[in-house]
Amino acid sequence: MIINVPSLLITGASRGLGLELVRQYLVDGWEVHAGMRHPAAASEDVQALKRVYGDALQLQHIDVEDHESIERLAARLAGRPIDVLINSAGTMGNGSFAEQGLQFGKFGSSDYPDWERVFRINVLGPMKMAEAFVEHVARSPQKKIVTLTSILGSIEKNRIGGLYAYRASKAAVNAIMRSMAIDLVRSHGIKSTALHPGWVRTDMGGPHADIDAPTSARGMKELIARLDETMVGRYWMYDGSELPW
Ligand SMILES: NC(=O)c1ccc[n+]([C@@H]2O[C@H](COP(=O)([O-])OP(=O)(O)OC[C@H]3O[C@@H](n4cnc5c(N)ncnc54)[C@H](OP(=O)(O)O)[C@@H]3O)[C@@H](O)[C@H]2O)c1
Repeated sequence: MIINVPSLLITGASRGLGLELVRQYLVDGWEVHAGMRHPAAASEDVQALKRVYGDALQLQHIDVEDHESIERLAARLAGRPIDVLINSAGTMGNGSFAEQGLQFGKFGSSDYPDWERVFRINVLGPMKMAEAFVEHVARSPQKKIVTLTSILGSIEKNRIGGLYAYRASKAAVNAIMRSMAIDLVRSHGIKSTALHPGWVRTDMGGPHADIDAPTSARGMKELIARLDETMVGRYWMYDGSELPW
């Protein structure tokens, strides 16, 4: 008897939250397509998972700035269902928020080529992934598309200013996820949402962040598991609370 296991496709799986989500879905018995920029040079952590999980873990080349890499993978996986697509790849741009705090991305310091790269990764990347894989997701039982955005993309919650490029990119991808939620439920029965992972101790969040990656990933997985039509078009946090746009 062939048992169909659910499948995940995720970007930014080389490290941080992407890698932790990969680990947790593998533990649950899913087939995981782990998208990363350099699969042939994957870290020891990724290779250790590969040794344990074998074919259940497929390392896939995805650079979200390189749309041909996305289209190539979509063509290679044509006809294969993908239950959950998670856009985790992201950047805050040059410099380090973890080290610089609110000196990072402040007014007067804009590096415009860097802004463009932040937008290519954080905004165009999730859009392109969704357009390339919509049919794969539509043919799956679960039909879900999730983008990791940030509370820093909430216009309502912005009380301290600064962080221009990152905030603007996450607000932009929030707008995309809101439209997608409306459109794709109607056209394909796909449930999509924006999801804030919390402030997490990764390379991006830094060592002083609130929570560790396993805690964030566990919460996000629970929320994704119960994502239904009543929850789409809204903006969630990893602990199940709702954020204002
Ligand atoms: N950590 C937090 O506190 C926090 C808070 C709010 C939101 N988020 C969001 O959560 C997501 C994951 O964050 P994280 O903390 O895991 O960040 P991270 O530790 O800095 O990891 C970033 C990931 O994105 C990948 N990436 C960057 N540019 C890419 C590209 N062009 N193509 C494909 N992959 C690319 C990196 O790959 P390489 O290894 O190849 O560089 C890495 O896997 C991001 O979207 C972030 O904005 C994080």
